[in-house]
Amino acid sequence: MLPANNNIKDMRVKMITLWINDKQYQAAEGQSVLQVALDNGIEIPHLCYHESLSSQGSCRLCLVEVTKGSKTIMTTSCTYPAMEGIKVQTDTLEIKKARRLVMELLLPLAPDAPKIKALASELGVTEPRLGPEPENDNCIKCGLCVRACDELVGAHAITFAGRGVARTVEPPYDEEAENCIGCGTCVQVCPTECIVMEDQGMERRIDKWKRTLKLKACKNCGRPFITFAEIDFMQTKAKNPPPEEWFDYCPDCR
Ligand code: FES
Repeated sequence: MLPANNNIKDMRVKMITLWINDKQYQAAEGQSVLQVALDNGIEIPHLCYHESLSSQGSCRLCLVEVTKGSKTIMTTSCTYPAMEGIKVQTDTLEIKKARRLVMELLLPLAPDAPKIKALASELGVTEPRLGPEPENDNCIKCGLCVRACDELVGAHAITFAGRGVARTVEPPYDEEAENCIGCGTCVQVCPTECIVMEDQGMERRIDKWKRTLKLKACKNCGRPFITFAEIDFMQTKAKNPPPEEWFDYCPDCR
């Protein structure tokens, strides 16, 4: 697993030279090939990569060909580290074919997700390889929500369950995610919009995590804007927590 791009930037690293699509680039050793490509304006389709999170290579969409010495392999660019002298191709016929196959398998998992539909059409995929999943929830099992909750928030509220095609993301033991603070980070990173967070009156609901939380209203405009659980979490877990009064006002009124 490669660390998040942010961590690389903070580290003292040596610079290396690599080739992407026959052009020479400089990169920090330890960056992934995908990070180097994106930093240099080379688009590689990707769904499970986020620059602030570690990479796991779960969606398989960011495939590239890497030549190191006399050996060429096809691999996921988000998990392959940039190394001195490697030659990367991002758009060969073989890669396009492999990406289309990956997309044909992803499409039935999230046939209604706008981002998946747009990527499928970009890649020329019109038909899924298999029929729609019987219990379709638009989740492609990329794990971004789990990594965001673990690595960015530190709440560890959700997890993977099951294996293979039966793999799902759910609260532990499929019961209410008691560690969920209702911050919505999982909602923001999800590429298929399959996690719905709804505010109704003074309550926030995230049905996917079986969670309902009480909201606090802004003292100025009266708008409910943050859960009490998130305030409590920030005050107990943050290194330099804001003073209590800071949570009396919403971001707009603050
Ligand atoms: S972005 Fe690389 S495998 Fe998903």
